[in-house]
Amino acid sequence: MARAESRFVCQTCGASYLRWEGQCRACESWNTLVETVVRVPTRAEESRAAGRGAVRGARPAAEVVALADVLSPIVARIATGLGELDRVLGGGLVPGSLVLVGGEPGVGKSTLLLQVAAGVVAPGGRVLYATGEESGAQVRLRAARLGLLDGPAGSAIDVLAASEVGRVIEHARATEPTLVVVDSIQTMTVDELDGPAGSVGQVKESALRLMDLAKGDGIAVILVGHVTKDGSIAGPKTLEHLVDAVLELGGERSGVLRVVRATKNRFGSTEEIGVFELGEGGLIEVADPGRAFLVEHDQAAAGSVVAATMEGSRPLLVEVQALVATAGFGTPARRVSGIDPNRLALILAVLGRRAGVGLGGHDVYANLAGGLAVAEPGLDLPLALALASSFRDRPVMPGTVAVGEVGLLGELRIVGGLERRLREAARLGFQRAIVPVAGRGKAPAVAGLEVIAVATLREAIRIGLASGPGGDRDDESDEERRAARSAPVLG
Ligand code: TYD
Ligand code: MG
Repeated sequence: MARAESRFVCQTCGASYLRWEGQCRACESWNTLVETVVRVPTRAEESRAAGRGAVRGARPAAEVVALADVLSPIVARIATGLGELDRVLGGGLVPGSLVLVGGEPGVGKSTLLLQVAAGVVAPGGRVLYATGEESGAQVRLRAARLGLLDGPAGSAIDVLAASEVGRVIEHARATEPTLVVVDSIQTMTVDELDGPAGSVGQVKESALRLMDLAKGDGIAVILVGHVTKDGSIAGPKTLEHLVDAVLELGGERSGVLRVVRATKNRFGSTEEIGVFELGEGGLIEVADPGRAFLVEHDQAAAGSVVAATMEGSRPLLVEVQALVATAGFGTPARRVSGIDPNRLALILAVLGRRAGVGLGGHDVYANLAGGLAVAEPGLDLPLALALASSFRDRPVMPGTVAVGEVGLLGELRIVGGLERRLREAARLGFQRAIVPVAGRGKAPAVAGLEVIAVATLREAIRIGLASGPGGDRDDESDEERRAARSAPVLG
């Protein structure tokens, strides 16, 4: 019989200690050690385990091979049936890979993976869908809702409601499916460990065994992972290091748009995003993602500017919305959603010092429509314009897009892929674009689009807000004029 013993396991990095300590010596985090009961196998059990290991020892001993002689790893990818997802994966699932799909509860992970399972079995093959989270009946209910029961999915997807990883692996080895989905890794446990499901020890050991299944048997394995309040995938960081790819399913829960992006990908880029709409029939690929994050307004609205951003190789137009309001008591509020708060702080500082739009005493709210998160410098100018527009309560003329990085001196800098962004804007019916002046050469000419190249943020605001309903009046207050004189650099 195994002996029960306890170890103190760091919940951040998974290092274990015999005694409690205030700080983990491996990762230096404080108060992260949690007592976890482990059962140490006896000698006999150990040798039996070693014997079992030898039987399934699928990986031969490593040999040194000249680089050019290494067997080419080009393998046929498994299409998931969802083009947008295949795009993020880098062309489909790689057999033998381990992929982690993270996302907040209710965002649609189980829905997505059930659809993936159906997509994988459509051309033939089997999928094992292991669920420790829901009962088989609940999975069936979802499949019925998605209209998958009558198709090949009804007979070729095996549902296993179990939380013991050993059973999942046993089943997978017996049936040899193309894909194993584990929903979720936080509900999986390993019999030999006594810790509760979701604890570092259980999560890590379960993932290791599933990796063994993926690599040893060439089966693609997708793990669902929960996300903690701070947005990281719950469980040890080691989980993310272990897997081949980490995908995140995001979007506003109340909204319909969902975005999949890879934060790690051993088989492709981490730049591409996939855009879906969650509706009655599950996740549906958005046919025209360039338009998905735009909002239709009846009238020009102050504080709204359309940004011509780029996600990977794809131009994406998204509406930036800002609200500037006189602050009440205390420190003025700064709230963002989908925008880097540090970037907002910088833009606010530049607006105040270099463009005569001092917002130090105002509450500032800024977000991107549709729950998209964008971290690229091209968003600077549209954000600054949206803030200035809300502050002066003057809309930017409809049909205008903006893009450009804002420097500390109030100068505008060119961003990559400008021509592609502008062509997309023209395709979607925009009439003018405010862009930075290129260092050399001139701004790209795009048919049907008036391209206005400006050198400074101050100029961009003057032009962008000039032709609103109020006509060409100049709104700068005396105070702003004084601020402008005291900041002569590029002002
Ligand atoms: P789910 O996939 O269960 O989320 P997760 O596994 O990430 O927790 O999806 C939860 C939400 O999706 C739920 O609010 C219902 C909604 N939904 C749809 O809108 N359409 C559908 O076809 C399905 C199956 C679910
Ligand atoms: Mg779920």
